[in-house]
Amino acid sequence: MEIKRIGVITSGGDCGGLNAVIKGIARKAYALGIETVVIPNGYAGLYNLVDLESVVVLNAERVSKIEASLAGSEAGHSRVKISKIADPEKYERIKKGLKKFNIDGLIISGGDDTGSVVVDLTSQGIPCVHVPKTMDLDLQPYSVGGDSAINRISVFARDLKTTGLSHNRILVIEVFGRYVGHTAFRGGIGAEADAILIPEVPVDFDILYEHMKTTYFARIERSDVRAGTYIIVVAEGLKTSSGEMLYDESAGVDAFGHKKLAGAGKYIRQQLEKRLKADPDVQAFMKRTGMYVPGIYVIPEVREVTPGHLVRSGHSSAYDVNFGYKTGAAAVVLLREGKTGKTVTGVEGHKILYMPTAEAIKRREVDIRELALFESLGTCFGRKPVEFKAELIEEHRTERSM
Ligand code: F6P
Repeated sequence: MEIKRIGVITSGGDCGGLNAVIKGIARKAYALGIETVVIPNGYAGLYNLVDLESVVVLNAERVSKIEASLAGSEAGHSRVKISKIADPEKYERIKKGLKKFNIDGLIISGGDDTGSVVVDLTSQGIPCVHVPKTMDLDLQPYSVGGDSAINRISVFARDLKTTGLSHNRILVIEVFGRYVGHTAFRGGIGAEADAILIPEVPVDFDILYEHMKTTYFARIERSDVRAGTYIIVVAEGLKTSSGEMLYDESAGVDAFGHKKLAGAGKYIRQQLEKRLKADPDVQAFMKRTGMYVPGIYVIPEVREVTPGHLVRSGHSSAYDVNFGYKTGAAAVVLLREGKTGKTVTGVEGHKILYMPTAEAIKRREVDIRELALFESLGTCFGRKPVEFKAELIEEHRTERSM
């Protein structure tokens, strides 16, 4: 089928790099003589397309108004799963909407839930190509938004050291990332956090406490002005010692049906406070360092900070703008070639790489073998450090572009 008009959808959580995806699609399509239109607000907009009076055409003038480096999406978002819409005629309704606006195929950017809808729509005969997007980085390929979130997490965690140092606080920074720890891990390393806690590693709080105590005590005792802090970056998907996820029960579920996560930072704080109160060395340390005030300041302060949506707002990293532009443009080529139900995974030289969307959305966790290297450099992951056993591999030519 010849593609003359493409509909662009962004879906799931917004993040960095999406506007570059949109611009990459629109500009590549334009160069190939294809028109691009916006289907607003994710799958909610797709379902309601038939009722719209008009759609925005991303012609050269309209596209130039979009700033590729701004996070979020000009196309808007929603967390709607088509299969869950209680309307038996939903697929027919969607097809009518596409027909009304002469849309021949869709390019859809989103994460695992969004990708599962790509698989669904493909099986309904609607041509669609998927561009991987999620700050969680839990898809098989890299996904636009991950690098931007990592950079922002590392800036926030690093910046918080000034307040931590001023008050000698132990700071716990809880960051988004859903069920995996990619952004906490990479952002934490970027900020030189002392400890990084991720869902892939069950936390031993006694080990974390000992690491904190040794590092934090030494810092204050070494400082001529008796200043020190200890920074912990924790992924929101962390489990309790008994393996339970920390849900915000009052927040209900999102439109994809996921319970909202919250409370990892608070949980860590409580675990540390409990141990600080019970440890006789702590008061002695407070007295030795001139921090002790009876009844007022008997243990160091532990505070949790939750940057929340800030980690995926603001501006995108240059890496995500690059990746977004490339994969957006590549998706147009794939759609034109009839590669429906596929996910763009990258562009290497003149090669466009892709895989079935059903495979691309399988959850990818942090490869915990990598933690040992950072443990050998002093970072605590809430477990007994594991020895980093290196395997040496000599590489020759590679196809990597970055
Ligand atoms: O999936 C992306 C993500 O940012 C998760 O890391 C986080 O749990 C969730 O979205 C928050 O969703 P919402 O913006 O709907 O609150």
